[in-house]
Amino acid sequence: SLLEETSLPLYFGWFLLSSVQVKVGCTAMDFLKTLDTLEVFKKHIADFTGEAEKEVDLEQYFETKETLHCTTKFCNYGKADGAKEYAKNPVVKKSYGSVFSLSLTALFVTPRTVGARVSLTEEQLQLWPADTEKESEVGIPGSASLPVGSRAHITLGCAAGVEPIQTGLDLLQILTLPEGEALEEMELGSLRYYGEGRWMLSLREPICAAACFSSFYG
Ligand code: A2P
Repeated sequence: SLLEETSLPLYFGWFLLSSVQVKVGCTAMDFLKTLDTLEVFKKHIADFTGEAEKEVDLEQYFETKETLHCTTKFCNYGKADGAKEYAKNPVVKKSYGSVFSLSLTALFVTPRTVGARVSLTEEQLQLWPADTEKESEVGIPGSASLPVGSRAHITLGCAAGVEPIQTGLDLLQILTLPEGEALEEMELGSLRYYGEGRWMLSLREPICAAACFSSFYG
């Protein structure tokens, strides 16, 4: 029935508490502000601008997001595969409304998206659909072999015209590539380049982010 269809949310996920949103948002902004001034970044500027020598202001380049969250299951109001089963899972029901502590272990930037990698605990993985990483194997060969939970992330911003779904795909793609050498030691951690405008900063100190497991209806 229509009621049953509309009773499922657009997505389930962990929603950062508001004070934490500010902290994470500011950390991301500081990172972008510094990244576009680095010589190693400027060397590959054409990945973003299409031409060498041209400058880019990464803070302007990305449209930042408001409700920072880590999606666990995109349900599309029940139309997505496995949505009903997920909503019925006893662990999902039991955890609904509980606050968790997410560990943000890296920040990544591509010409399309900027995001934070979330490293899930065993407990948090119980809320992670087992087939998430397999679903992207066609577009991103090798992603199905990554550990379950590899796609967990928070979308911090998207370039004009880019949908947020891209952030998780960009993260998976980076994780399938060989880890390059650290090109720069920044205050927050080591910066690596993965080709084609893909950058990842492994945080020296993971950011601990309190987040409520809930859902978004839109
Ligand atoms: P993400 O989790 O990477 O931020 P939208 O506003 O486009 O409807 O998306 C709502 C949220 O659901 C966003 O957080 C988005 O990406 C995520 N999302 C959208 N489509 C999908 C999908 N097909 N699979 C997984 N997550 C999705």
